[in-house]
Amino acid sequence: MLPVEMMPGVYWVGVNDYITQMFEGLWSIKQSGICYNSYLVRRTKTALIDLAKSFQTEELITQIKTVVDIGMLDYIVLNHVEPDHAGALNIIRQLAPKAVLVGSKITQKMLKAFYGIDFDIHVVSDGDELSLGDSQLRFITMPFVHWPESMMTYMPDEQLLFSNDAFGGYGLLPGAIYADLYDIEHLRQENLRYFVNIVAHYEKPVSKLLAKISDVPVRMIAPSHGPIWREGVTRLACWYQEWLDCASGKAQEAVTLIYASMYQNTERMMEAVAQGVVSQKVPLNVFNVSNVHVSYILPSLLERGGVIVGSPTYEGELFPPVAEVIRYAAEKKIHHRKAAFFGSYGWGGGAKDGFVCLIKPMAWELTDSLEVTGAPTEQDLQRAERLGAQFAQRIKTSEK
Ligand SMILES: Cc1cc2nc3c(=O)[nH]c(=O)nc-3n(C[C@H](O)[C@H](O)[C@H](O)COP(=O)(O)O)c2cc1C
Ligand SMILES: [Fe+2]
Ligand SMILES: [Fe+2]
Repeated sequence: MLPVEMMPGVYWVGVNDYITQMFEGLWSIKQSGICYNSYLVRRTKTALIDLAKSFQTEELITQIKTVVDIGMLDYIVLNHVEPDHAGALNIIRQLAPKAVLVGSKITQKMLKAFYGIDFDIHVVSDGDELSLGDSQLRFITMPFVHWPESMMTYMPDEQLLFSNDAFGGYGLLPGAIYADLYDIEHLRQENLRYFVNIVAHYEKPVSKLLAKISDVPVRMIAPSHGPIWREGVTRLACWYQEWLDCASGKAQEAVTLIYASMYQNTERMMEAVAQGVVSQKVPLNVFNVSNVHVSYILPSLLERGGVIVGSPTYEGELFPPVAEVIRYAAEKKIHHRKAAFFGSYGWGGGAKDGFVCLIKPMAWELTDSLEVTGAPTEQDLQRAERLGAQFAQRIKTSEK
């Protein structure tokens, strides 16, 4: 997409990534894609804020050249050295020999490791300003949202916040860069998926950041991924607060059911359990972990207070993809859930023990469980339905 002038002299010069299937090699972006937002600020001096992944360097160069003579760049601000932001750095640097690199003290160290850069950059600390002549750039450090060197860049005169990975989302920008031109519920889902996949592990640094910027006047938020917010910027901060609250235990009165099944025994139980939950009018999301990528399951686990896990026994243990989803939930600090377990086994069992073991450090409380041998009988299915109904009752506030 062609560059867009977001404010007088401030341009989006980002690129859409239609190629990458798994972001960070882990998170499915097959359906969503992602964009690397790079920004140009033209004042007396010109600054480029963040770049793109290396394989899209040529496209980024074209974007920049559409707006300015790349050789005339005065500054390259590195909000983050992760290669989805700075992969294009060494080539851009060659084309912009007089551009001074700007980053935090930790950026300086990391540039050597990632890009072989060992000359001195312009080091900035929290609150420092850089003059572009008739405008200032102010830097707001945000260690561990997402890496230790991460920072935001703020333009006080425009009240514009280049927010780096914070407030970012998956998704392409085909035809428009502004959030208000897309479906808001879809954006919320893709921002939540990005939040829980990428930054939720760092819930304390995110919480500190929200407090730190709470009194910064912001008219526009320009993150490194996903659309730019020129309306409803407070909504973004509210979403982040909501998601942090969910992570710390104040989740919705709703249930996520994750399961897998080799020969449909556990799957038949799943249907009965689900019927039980729904009979109590408690919202339910069901995921077959063999078919749905974990990046789509984590948002539901984060937002909902109840988790029901269905797993057959596999080689004396939990079915591996089920265990994997729970391990991811632990990694993303999804703690303090009420949990129920069901499944089928053939002889000695072991899935439930594996489950109990996994959830202990996560402070998930196992309140109900049901295991059957082989195919569930009619009575087993009735018990499974009762389990679902009972569990749904427990997660309603009145039953807590
Ligand atoms: C590859 C494989 C490994 C299994 N390992 C065990 C095991 O270690 N212990 C056990 O009790 N049952 C084991 N079983 C039996 C299953 O747990 C049993 O068939 C169960 O009903 C499968 O449920 P499902 O139809 O939902 O997949 C295994 C089955 C398969 C196919
Ligand atoms: Fe990052
Ligand atoms: Fe990023």
